[in-house]
Amino acid sequence: MAPDLVVRRARPGDAPAISRLNNTFANEGQMLVRSPEVIALAIDDYVVVQVARGELLACGALKEYSPSVAEVAAIAVSRDAHGQGLGRTIVGAVEALARKRGIFDVFALTLQPEFFAAVGYQRVDRARYPEKIRRDCLGCARRFACNEICFAKNLLADQTAVPLAA
Ligand SMILES: CC(C)(COP(=O)(O)OP(=O)(O)OC[C@H]1O[C@@H](n2cnc3c(N)ncnc32)[C@H](O)[C@@H]1OP(=O)(O)O)[C@@H](O)C(=O)NCCC(=O)NCCS
Repeated sequence: MAPDLVVRRARPGDAPAISRLNNTFANEGQMLVRSPEVIALAIDDYVVVQVARGELLACGALKEYSPSVAEVAAIAVSRDAHGQGLGRTIVGAVEALARKRGIFDVFALTLQPEFFAAVGYQRVDRARYPEKIRRDCLGCARRFACNEICFAKNLLADQTAVPLAA
């Protein structure tokens, strides 16, 4: 990663920039729309990659479903910065947050299966995560036409931890 980039927990003031980054791709149907207000309410669950004292280039969140299971969610990298390893870095930062909270079973529901496979996730049946299905999928308008694929990683078996600044 470039030396002028910082990987850190998100702060309340980041919510508008995270929302803009997220919604660039949400408007193309690649992820869910998230307002600054909704993000601010969950800001402790977000991590970011920022150019030192500059713009946010990547964001992601850990969405907890139980004391031991969480989703790696809302992963987005600024289009200009694609292909430079920031997607891998931000997923690693979300995983670092999971480890910090004692969560080692993480999953993602994604339209980018090759990306998650490249960063060490295994394809699994989403039925493995009934908490996700109960909380989000059953009420979703696309539940009968969902094309998201479930990927999971066991962090106890993974040695690629990323350090995460406050
Ligand atoms: C998916 C996304 C996060 C990838 O970010 P990125 O910074 O370009 O990814 P990286 O450079 O860290 O790539 C990591 C690995 O994934 C692979 N990869 C990344 N995007 C890929 C894609 N669309 N198809 C296939 N492989 C991909 C890379 O080749 C790389 O593999 P390698 O390390 O074996 O060479 C980015 O394209 C994005 O923000 N997309 C829009 C939002 C989105 O779809 N988010 C996912 C929602 S769950």
